[in-house]
Amino acid sequence: MTVIHAAITGWGKCLPPAVLSNHDLSGLLDTSDDWIVSRTGIRERRISHVGLEELAYVAAARALAAAAISGSSIELVVFGTCSHEDQVPNMASGIQVRIGAPAAAAFDINTACTSFLYGLSAATALIRTQVVRNALVIGAELISPFMDWSDRDVAVLFGDGAAAVVLEASEREEGVLAEKLGCYGDAREILRVHGMGGRYANRGVLYGITRWQFEGQEIFKRAVQGMSSACEDTLARLSFRPQDVDLVVPHQANLRIIEAVAKRAHVPMERVYVNIQRYGNMSAATVPVALCEALEERRVRPGALLLMPGFGGGLSYCAHLVRWGSRTTPLKSSTAELPPNERPALEIVRECLERKTRPSAAPSTTPFA
Ligand code: UT7
Repeated sequence: MTVIHAAITGWGKCLPPAVLSNHDLSGLLDTSDDWIVSRTGIRERRISHVGLEELAYVAAARALAAAAISGSSIELVVFGTCSHEDQVPNMASGIQVRIGAPAAAAFDINTACTSFLYGLSAATALIRTQVVRNALVIGAELISPFMDWSDRDVAVLFGDGAAAVVLEASEREEGVLAEKLGCYGDAREILRVHGMGGRYANRGVLYGITRWQFEGQEIFKRAVQGMSSACEDTLARLSFRPQDVDLVVPHQANLRIIEAVAKRAHVPMERVYVNIQRYGNMSAATVPVALCEALEERRVRPGALLLMPGFGGGLSYCAHLVRWGSRTTPLKSSTAELPPNERPALEIVRECLERKTRPSAAPSTTPFA
């Protein structure tokens, strides 16, 4: 019997244009460029002037164009995020409408920062079992409205962004070859965003007025442990060695975490893709954005073996081994663009801060409103 694989045939990203630098943040919080760069590797991040669906739609349109597939042919939309505009209806159904795919199934996945990678697993499995013939998998996140901009422990770490890939059934051995998915549920309390769910409604907490419970050092340790063991496990499943890996495209949360995982996985940093300096941690969007940029920078050669480790709240962790196909350039480009933005990132952030201190003052121009 022919084995069906799920090749990645299209990819696209969408980064909002407003840049929030470390210098900007040091005017807002008791922090410095030196501290942020030396502890995290982050130099700047993006702050969105539009909502999550808009960011995701532009990324999706670009991914569809790269695969030269029409939206109406898509059979499944998987939307990985933890910063939903709505819980009901879900985000994926909004994208189904925007790309014009009325026959597509559509669901969201939330495993925090690993949501794209978990979504890649779900979509790949549904293609392999021939439930669908193709899928659009999105990793998109709008963290800025949910950030506690008065808390320097977390405010310096995150950013907004989106990216998407198209998967298509193939008889060639491409796409996800093996993966390990895991979760340290015992450590779920070390990363909790208070005010981001229904459980707070009857405690007088307004949705979106957040406080982050965040044990950075413990998350750091678990992240290194989870991603390293997942890399080892995934490679062992198909008897690959670290030297067989052409490029590691990891979740980008902290440069020191990436370096520690690379060391434990025995892959030199020259074969690890890093873009955290430009965007910070975009949660579910980091891996697909990094994949898009690695392709743009010609770091992915035809037939390359890619290793994609991730971790996130939950604490979820995983690693995916992906065989790239013969094409590393898009077939077409899309005309989809975000609406223009006039506002500096710091102004958007100050609005978020204002809303936290005076919720009734929330202006309607912010993406969250
Ligand atoms: O996708 C999941 C997202 N989560 C993560 O990725 C978090 C993983 N953890 C980390 O990345 C790191 O633990 C952090 C970057 C969050 C923190 O780095 P660290 O090296 O573990 O620093 P620390 O928490 O030990 O803090 C060292 C010092 C403290 O001051 P004292 O107690 O030594 O006086 C902090 O108060 O740095 C202080 N500090 C800051 N200083 C300037 C904490 N945040 C800041 C800040 N600017 N933004």
